[in-house]
Amino acid sequence: MRILVSFISILLSLQFLSAKTAIDVIPCPASVVASEGKLSVAGARCKVDSKFGKAAVAAVKDFEENLFRASTVKKGESGVVVFFEMASEMSDEEYSISVSEKAAVVKASSLKGVLYAMETMKQMLPVAIYTGAPAPDAEWTLPCVEIKDNPRFAYRGLLLDVSRHFFDVEQVKRYIDLMVIHKLNTFHWHLTDDQGWRIEIKRYPELTQIGAVRKETIIGRWADKKGFDGIPYGEGMWYTQDQIKEVVEYAASKGVEVIPEIDLPGHMLAALATFPELGCTGGPYEVCRWWGVSKDVLCVGKESTFMFLENVLSEICELFPSKYIHIGGDECPKVRWQNCHHCQAKIRELGYRDDINHSAEHYLQSYVTKRIEDFLATKGKKIVGWDEILEGEIAPDATVMSWRGTKGGIAAARLGHDVIMAPNTYCYFNYYQAKDQSTEPLARGGFTPVSKVYSYEPLSDEMTDEEKSHILGVQACMWSEYITDWKGLEYMLLPRLSALSEVQWCKPENKDYESFLKRMIHMAEIYKALGCDYANHIFN
Ligand code: ACM
Ligand code: ZN
Repeated sequence: MRILVSFISILLSLQFLSAKTAIDVIPCPASVVASEGKLSVAGARCKVDSKFGKAAVAAVKDFEENLFRASTVKKGESGVVVFFEMASEMSDEEYSISVSEKAAVVKASSLKGVLYAMETMKQMLPVAIYTGAPAPDAEWTLPCVEIKDNPRFAYRGLLLDVSRHFFDVEQVKRYIDLMVIHKLNTFHWHLTDDQGWRIEIKRYPELTQIGAVRKETIIGRWADKKGFDGIPYGEGMWYTQDQIKEVVEYAASKGVEVIPEIDLPGHMLAALATFPELGCTGGPYEVCRWWGVSKDVLCVGKESTFMFLENVLSEICELFPSKYIHIGGDECPKVRWQNCHHCQAKIRELGYRDDINHSAEHYLQSYVTKRIEDFLATKGKKIVGWDEILEGEIAPDATVMSWRGTKGGIAAARLGHDVIMAPNTYCYFNYYQAKDQSTEPLARGGFTPVSKVYSYEPLSDEMTDEEKSHILGVQACMWSEYITDWKGLEYMLLPRLSALSEVQWCKPENKDYESFLKRMIHMAEIYKALGCDYANHIFN
C-alpha cells in the first residue's frame, strides 16, 4: 500500500512538473478556452494596425524581432501572421487572443491592450522570447485557444523607495520591465525622504547637493546597537530632470504611468538639512543616518514653507504627466509644532482646538494637505496621501492610500473617497518572506510570504457596493532601508510580484493558489531567462 501511495505521489509530482500548458500565464486571464491543435509561430510576421500608434507598433516590432532571433527562422518564411486588430468597442485595458492552426488574431483598443496581449503570448512561448537568445530546438508554437481578458482593478501599482537606497535609471527601467510582465500599470516613485533627496529641482540645486548625501548609515537595526558605518552615502545619487523625463517616457511606452511622491510635511529631513529655516527649531539638521520617524518636520506656521513646497511641486507637475501627485502625509509627529510659536500662531489664526478625536496639530496637518491639494488642483492634479491624511479632516478630493492595514481605506471609502489599498500586512515587500529570519537577508520585520500576498482580498465584506466602487486598486511597496542593491531588491520582489499581480488582475473566482503555484514553475523559468534573483521558498 505504501509503495502504491509513493508511486501515485511520484506520478502526481511528475504531472506537476510536466511541460507547461496553454494557460501557464500570470496573472491568469479572465477566460481561456483551449482547443486541439497549435500554430507554429517560428518566423511569423506581425501585422499591427497603425491606429494603435507608434509605441504599439514599436513594441510589436520588438516582439517580432525576438521571435525571429530566438526561433532562428527568417521573418515571413513560415507565411504565418499574427494580426493585431483595432477593436474600438473594447475598454482601454481589454484584449482578446484567438489562435487557430492558421493564424493568431489579437484584438484591443489601445496600446495597453496590445502590450497585455503580447505579454500573455510571451508566457505561452519558450522563455527565449524574452531575450531573443537563439533557441532553435524549443517548440515555437502557440496552442489553439480563445483568450478574453480584462483586469479587475484599474490601479495596479508598485512603489519603489529610492531615498533610503538609490536605484539608478537602468535599474528603475528594469523594475518597470518586471511590472510590465505582470501587467501592472502604475509606478509609485518615492523620491524624497529623511535619508536622501533624489530628484533635481532646478530652483533649489542645493537639495541634491546637500540633501542627497548622508554622512553615514546605521548598521543593521537600531536595537542591534551596531553603530554607523562611517561611509558617506548619496553623492551623485539623484536623478536629473532629463533622467526623470526619460523614465516617464520609457514607462509610458510600456503602458505604465509614473506617480511621483514628495513626502510632506514629515519625512523631510533631507530638505531641512539643506534649508534649516524650513524647520520649527531652525536646526541644525542633518540628512538622516538611521531608519525610523524623525520628530523634525516642516514648519507649517511659516508662509515661506508653502512657497518652497509650491516651487518644488510646480517643477514636479511639469515633469510628471500623471493625474495624481502623491504628497505623503504619513508619520508626521506633532511635537515640534506643539512647541513652535509660528505653528501655534497658525493654529490660533485658523481657530483649531483639540477635540475628543484629534489634536489641534492634527487639524493643522489637514490644513497643509488641503492647501497643497488646492495648489495642485490649479495645475490640474489630484492628490494621493497615506492614510494619516484622514486624521483631523480629510481634504475634499484626496485619494487615500491605506498602508496601516485596511482600516483607513475602508474609512475613506465610507466617506466617499477613492482608495488604493496597500496594507502593510499583505503588500509590504520589505517584510520577511520566511518565518525563520536567520535564513533571510536582514529585513524590516513582519512576515509576508507569497501565500499571504496571494490571499489578499481588497473588497471586504464590511463594505457596501458603493464603498467597494471607491477601491481603485492595490499596490505593493518596496521600502529600501534594508535593501541596499539591485540583487537584494529582486529577491524581495520575486515571486511576490507574481502573487500581487493576480490580486490586482484576477476576479476572485479565477484565483486559485494551487493553480498559481503550478503556473509559477514557468514564471520561474522566465525569471531565470532574465537573470533575476528570486526567493525560492514556494518551489521547495
Ligand atoms: C509608510 O510606510 N510610512 C507609508
Ligand atoms: Zn513650526
